[in-house]
Amino acid sequence: MFDLKEYLAAKGRLVDAWLREYFAKNSPVKPRLFKEAMEYSINAGGKRLRPVLALASFEASGGEKSETILRYACALELIHTYSLIHDDLPAMDDDDLRRGKPTNHKVYGEAMAILAGDGLLTEAFHMLSVQEKGFFPRADVLLDVIRDVARRAGLYGMVAGQAQDILSDESHGGSDQGHQGGRSDGSRAVDDSAGGQEMLEFIHMHKTAQLITASTRMGGMLAGADPAGLEALTVYGEAAGLAFQVADDILDVKGETALMGKTAGSDERKSKLTYPSVYGVEAARQKASDMVKKALAALDGAFGAGAEPLRAIARYIIERKS
Ligand code: IPE
Ligand code: IPE
Ligand code: MG
Ligand code: MG
Ligand code: MG
Repeated sequence: MFDLKEYLAAKGRLVDAWLREYFAKNSPVKPRLFKEAMEYSINAGGKRLRPVLALASFEASGGEKSETILRYACALELIHTYSLIHDDLPAMDDDDLRRGKPTNHKVYGEAMAILAGDGLLTEAFHMLSVQEKGFFPRADVLLDVIRDVARRAGLYGMVAGQAQDILSDESHGGSDQGHQGGRSDGSRAVDDSAGGQEMLEFIHMHKTAQLITASTRMGGMLAGADPAGLEALTVYGEAAGLAFQVADDILDVKGETALMGKTAGSDERKSKLTYPSVYGVEAARQKASDMVKKALAALDGAFGAGAEPLRAIARYIIERKS
């Protein structure tokens, strides 16, 4: 029997250790407080799901010794961590707790938190651009990976999704929701609006599912996956990524702050456009479960037993408590 808990712990330890050493080695970075602010968030832990997905996709695609791609997998964690630091800022979701600790701006101030995010994002692409000793991976493959990550993390992915998330939340005016805004009873008026539903899917597909898809595709590309394998990893990443954000929205309503390491109820406070707020918790659970089925079906068409970790991760995404 495949033990997902052990798998996530083992891969998570590899990621944690690689990141800790990388920042320790870059000791000349100055000023000291800038470096400390980046390390504060990057070493705070987290599930490390994006790098783990890259490692698991590499293995599923026949790649051997997934430790050899840690540099590239860890770059995804720098991008993800920068997005969390910025997401928590007062100008965005205005949250105080992240990964069980005060948010970056609570400790280092808003200006340094913005810069720590900028630093992590930029450094991620520096990391991606370096071929490991022995020139693995091939430069043309690496260039394809960098292009894919840039597109899915930026203008055609995560940043676009975050922009639409902000434009759609009522605390920021909610002027771009495709509906008339909240009702006097607190429920949203979006459930009968096709525009609102489309926008919700756009937000989730972009702000969360695209970086997750960049992670699965990275693993495939570095292992030399064929077009069918890469397509399966793309469908899996988008479906599991959408399920991941729907589950995150449900946890925001139903989860426990202590387990999540971030404050429950944040979405309601900011009147966010979420699956539970639009469809209710039960329908949101159904949506997430349908997406996981889609992710699993995509794998079955292209992979055998080597994709067992990816299958288990997809199921875990909607069962998790944190
Ligand atoms: C939180 O991501 C932000 C979302 C995209 C929902 P994670 O739930 O992966 O956060 P960490 O990395 O484990 O802290
Ligand atoms: C954020 O979504 C997605 C990102 C790209 C950071 P949320 O705003 O729901 O993430 P949490 O709940 O703060 O982690
Ligand atoms: Mg947000
Ligand atoms: Mg947030
Ligand atoms: Mg959330």
